[in-house]
Amino acid sequence: MKRILVTGGCGFIGSNFVRHFLNSVDDCRLINLDKLTYAGNPENLRDIEKDPRYRFVKGDICDSSLIEALFDEEQIDTVVHFAAESHVDRSISGPSEFIRTNINGTFMLLEAARKAWLSTSHLSPLHARFLHVSTDEVYGSLGETGLFCETTPFDPRSPYSASKASSDHLVSSYFHTYGLPTLITNCSNNYGPYHFPEKLIPLIINNALNGKELPVYGDGKNVRDWLYVVDHCAAIMTALQHGKLGETYNVGGNNEKQNIEIVTTVCDLLDEKVGLLPSGDARQNLIRYVTDRPGHDRRYAIDASKIKDELDWEPSVTFEEGIRLTVDWYLENPEWISSVLDGSYQEYYETMYGNR
Ligand code: NAD
Ligand code: TYD
Repeated sequence: MKRILVTGGCGFIGSNFVRHFLNSVDDCRLINLDKLTYAGNPENLRDIEKDPRYRFVKGDICDSSLIEALFDEEQIDTVVHFAAESHVDRSISGPSEFIRTNINGTFMLLEAARKAWLSTSHLSPLHARFLHVSTDEVYGSLGETGLFCETTPFDPRSPYSASKASSDHLVSSYFHTYGLPTLITNCSNNYGPYHFPEKLIPLIINNALNGKELPVYGDGKNVRDWLYVVDHCAAIMTALQHGKLGETYNVGGNNEKQNIEIVTTVCDLLDEKVGLLPSGDARQNLIRYVTDRPGHDRRYAIDASKIKDELDWEPSVTFEEGIRLTVDWYLENPEWISSVLDGSYQEYYETMYGNR
């Protein structure tokens, strides 16, 4: 039986992963440790919260006594670590929480795993796994050509990517120094259901639906490599089950798009699905070019051949399919987006879980 600790399981990718894991593995106990920052939303997992295999714990990954107690009490043998501050713009306006959670929090988790797995006899490290979920942003910014591979030197440019690069180095050091059974995945931009509407795709969907301006940074020609979130969850499962300890796997969608292409695609899809704006205008008229993000990375693109060749994972959803699924999900779940935006999910949490 797998006894897995998922951190940040109430966030965008974490909640998709929790659902994916429980649907894929019958014999398991899954502990979701989440601080419920502004980005953590228990509504994301409402459908599984009564599953007897699932336990939610409200808590901070920087709280070492809490994590050590969880390792002990639940006999954790697997960690999948999502918890992080994840928004580049917020890391520019307020970096300290990124340093605290992304670096110190990862360190606390590594220490707890080391103590539980390497200093006691109750679990063989052969069966244990610590999978750290990271980003392609650690590699910096590409020019017109080239791809990030696992050996590309780190060159982070934002406080967010620098904090993730630091945590990747810490994880790697625990493998080399202590033999902690680690794996790292560095993934490109995800999109799909439960994506917090401060990130490009859900922000554009929400604003375009409501006739609000669509802010496009700089010239709109920055490129990201988009991956449907469920494919990312499948890649993490694959790395967990078949990955070689101490290795890093790059995960990407082979879907390079300029930001402006993303914005116009979403506008056209919404025009098609819900009709033009009340004024009779197409939604592309809402696009506004705004001041660029400081240090805005120009292009990210992933070479995912290692995980394909060695572990037989590749994306299953094309961008054209994934963006339709995503727009449909937001159209079908207006109450989710409004609850996130008005903060009422925090009240929901208090009602459901109290303040433990
Ligand atoms: P998110 O911001 O949607 O969710 C983060 C979750 O972590 C939230 O539920 C939040 O409450 C929780 N959290 C934050 N600080 C915490 C703390 N101190 N203790 C416990 N929980 C805490 O993020 P996401 O987009 O789902 O990203 C998840 C992970 O995947 C991150 O590590 C991120 O760096 C990585 N990643 C994200 C993307 C992407 O496109 N979103 C791409 C590659 C990698
Ligand atoms: P974002 O979703 O914040 O992800 P990341 O910065 O981690 O790649 O942004 C994706 C791209 O979209 C990035 O190049 C910045 C750009 N962007 C905009 O043009 N307008 C926006 O309002 C936002 C949030 C992002």
